[in-house]
This record gives sequence, C-alpha cells and structure tokens, in this order.
Amino acid sequence: MFRSFFIWLSKLDWAQKMIMRWGLAWRAASRFIAGETPEDAIRVIRELNTRGIQTSLDHLGENTVRPEDAVQATSDILELLDKIKLSGVQSNISVKLTQIGLALGDELCKENLNRILKKAQTLGNFIRLDMEESQFTDNTLYLYRYFRSIGFNNVGIVIQAYFYRSRQDILSLAEIKTRVRLCKGAYQEPSKLAYPKKKDVDANYEQLANILLDEALSIGINDRIVDPIFPPIPAIATHDTNRIRQVKDYALKIGLAPQLFEFQMLYGIRRDLQEELVKQGYRVRVYVPYGTRWYPYFMRRLAERPANVWFFLSNYFRK
Ligand code: FDA
Repeated sequence: MFRSFFIWLSKLDWAQKMIMRWGLAWRAASRFIAGETPEDAIRVIRELNTRGIQTSLDHLGENTVRPEDAVQATSDILELLDKIKLSGVQSNISVKLTQIGLALGDELCKENLNRILKKAQTLGNFIRLDMEESQFTDNTLYLYRYFRSIGFNNVGIVIQAYFYRSRQDILSLAEIKTRVRLCKGAYQEPSKLAYPKKKDVDANYEQLANILLDEALSIGINDRIVDPIFPPIPAIATHDTNRIRQVKDYALKIGLAPQLFEFQMLYGIRRDLQEELVKQGYRVRVYVPYGTRWYPYFMRRLAERPANVWFFLSNYFRK
C-alpha cells in the first residue's frame, strides 16, 4: 500500500511540480543524487574511486514524451562519455531506454542507442540498460539482443527478480554470455506478472543469483575481468544483507573468485556496507545518478523504505 502510493505519486505531473518546488525536497533527494551537473557527479565518482569503489553514472531522466527531448538526452549522454574519458574517472554509464525514446517507438530509440553504443565503444566504455516497468521489458530485451547480434559487446542488461519470467530470461541470456545486473525491481507490477510477496521475491533473487554465479564460474577468467569499467557477468545489485551473505557463501561454496562478480548499490544507501565489502576484497560498484530530473527516482527511493518518508516529513515540519 505504502509502496504503491509513492510509485503512483512518482508518475503525477502535478505532484512533481509541487514537490520539486520545495527546497526541502531537493535537500532530502540530494542524499540519493550526486548533484545537478556532470561535474558534480564526476567529483563524487572521483571520491568513490579513491575508496576503491567503481561506479555507473546515470544522467537522470525517463519517460520522455517528445522526440527532440530524446535526441537531446542522447547528446547529453554522448557528452558525458567524453567527460568521463577526459576526467580519467572509472565509471560506466546506465541508461533508461525511455529517456532516449523507447516510449515513442523502437526505431527512434534504436537510432539513439546506436549512437551511444558506438561512442562508448570508441572510448572503451560500457553501457548498462536499466530495466523499467513491465510494458518495456520485451522491447528492452529486444534492443539488447539486437545490438549484441550486430557486434556490440559493451552493453549489459538488468533483470528484476520480482518477475516470474526472470528465470527464463536469465537462462536464455546466458546463451550469449550476458552481463546481468540482478535487482529486486523498483516498480509496481500486477500479481499476474510479479511475486506480490517480498519473501518470494527474496527467494527468487537467491535462485537467480546462484544461476548467474554458476555461469560466471563456467566462463572463468577473461581479459576484461580486472577492467574497472566493464562489469563481470553477475552484478548483485542489492543492499539486503541476507542476500549479500547468501551470494558470498554460494561463491565460496562453488569456488568462484571474488573478481568474477560484483556487488552494486545505490549512491547514498548503505555506504558502510559498501566500504566493508571493499575491505573484504569484493568488487563494489555504486550507481550514481545526477541531474535535474530527480523526482521519479527520489519517489522510488521513498517507496522502498518508510523511514525515508518519516525523515523527509519530520524535517519539513521542523523547519
Ligand atoms: P530491500 O528493499 O529488501 O532492502 C534491503 C535493505 O536495504 C533495507 O532494509 C535498507 O536497509 C536498505 N534500503 C533499501 N532501499 C533503501 C532506500 N531507498 N533507502 C534507504 N535504505 C534502503 N530497479 C529496477 O527496477 N530497475 C533497475 O534497472 C534497477 N537498477 C538498480 C541498480 C542498482 C545498483 C541497485 C542497487 C538497485 C537498482 N534497482 C533497480 C532498484 C532495486 O530494484 C530495488 O528497488 C532497491 O535496490 C531496493 O531493494 P534491495 O535489494 O536493496 O532490498
């Protein structure tokens, strides 16, 4: 109920206008967002890199409704790739396909993604396709497979453990050695598509993580393995200490070296855990969002944890 309410709120224009006008909202959101400009984000990344943490940079934006805005977002991402290269920080990029036109048709999005992947390839960078709501799952998978089939290896995808279909998706993506980020899923989905209960999502997460770890073991070491920009096949994206413990235990049990998988977390969440994992010798990558279109991202972070909302509201009433 709580979660659905904030995800519903994340889609409302009037709520966005109202909430983004409060200075306090930005103050609360900035816990999860690295700043408004690429320079802010690069500063944050540099600091994370010095602590042994890799990153994936997200130029915030989604559900673009005008083709010219999708083209502009694409140009911004191309510039960002140059900025990463010039600054020398170690970061790849995460992209939401609806930001570059997926909701406006496959062709526009394909053209934009083609430009991004080509540029990333030239600069030796990697693009992760974030996964959005179920209405976009098939098209996102289609575009991922299309670009792999024409020779782009610098692209990976996200699988959401809350979907019943995800096991099948992971097994078939394994046939083309896909770099998968496994997360629980951040949207509101109907029970005919997704497990409604958290305990079932957690159980599925565990099973899917094991499949990815087995796959990483069977592929073994390749020359990209120590590359800080290219992620290994399994990227375990969660802050859930039970899931993290289970992944560590399973990797140990099957003899999978820690360089062959990585943990991923969101900027502003469980920094202590990120540092602890690095100290223990695991690879950690932090997802670093920046930009002015932070409203839906922030609402999803509130939806995930009631304590975030109480913190936000108590500060509002204290001012
Ligand atoms: P869970 O929700 O069970 O939380 C476990 C613990 O983590 C909590 O007890 C709390 O301590 C901490 N925590 C979790 N969320 C928090 C928050 N918002 N604020 C403070 N603490 C919090 N989703 C998606 O649908 N598509 C995608 O492409 C991605 N991409 C992605 C990248 C990366 C790097 C991460 C880490 C996550 C995503 N997600 C995502 C989001 C993901 O689906 C999920 O919504 C969140 O990670 C929260 O779930 P947890 O796995 O952390 O578990």
